[in-house]
Amino acid sequence: MQSVAFTEEEKARIEAICQRYPTRQSAVMPVLWMAQEKFGSLSAPVLRLVADTLGLPPAHVEGVATFYTMYLTERKAKWLVEICTCFTCGECGGRELWDYAHKKLGLNEEGVSSDGVFWFREAECLGACDTPPVVQIEGRRMVFSVTPEKLDQVLEGLRKAELPSFESVPPRTPLS
Ligand code: FES
Repeated sequence: MQSVAFTEEEKARIEAICQRYPTRQSAVMPVLWMAQEKFGSLSAPVLRLVADTLGLPPAHVEGVATFYTMYLTERKAKWLVEICTCFTCGECGGRELWDYAHKKLGLNEEGVSSDGVFWFREAECLGACDTPPVVQIEGRRMVFSVTPEKLDQVLEGLRKAELPSFESVPPRTPLS
């Protein structure tokens, strides 16, 4: 089992992050993200580690981690796949994409695929409404204008531990 500790190099990075902010409390978000990237989720021991490292009350760190959906206090499967079903995406294929994933992967009531590899969640607006529907992988890679075929390709890549490549946002349609 992975020990819940930061390496000396990671501690130095955290100190460098703290230097960018007026108080150590202000650095909690990037340090939580760093911890999530390292440990996969923000379990109670990881939250305690972040609190101890920053010298903050554990309740403050937990409050931030449980407020923002990008932080995972538990991980239900290897890959988190979020489909935006908010306003625009919902009307432009996001709902159908969600239904497609549901049927194809046999998602349970928690959104976990029957093989336990993928954890699907519906996302609120991801800020790219002009390229619907949008899918986000692990909170850090966005895929635009996703069709069922494109989703299949993304999932196939993830099975091989390949994140989808960075896509630049397609050019905006100018308003007339
Ligand atoms: S509604 Fe999906 S990105 Fe805005």
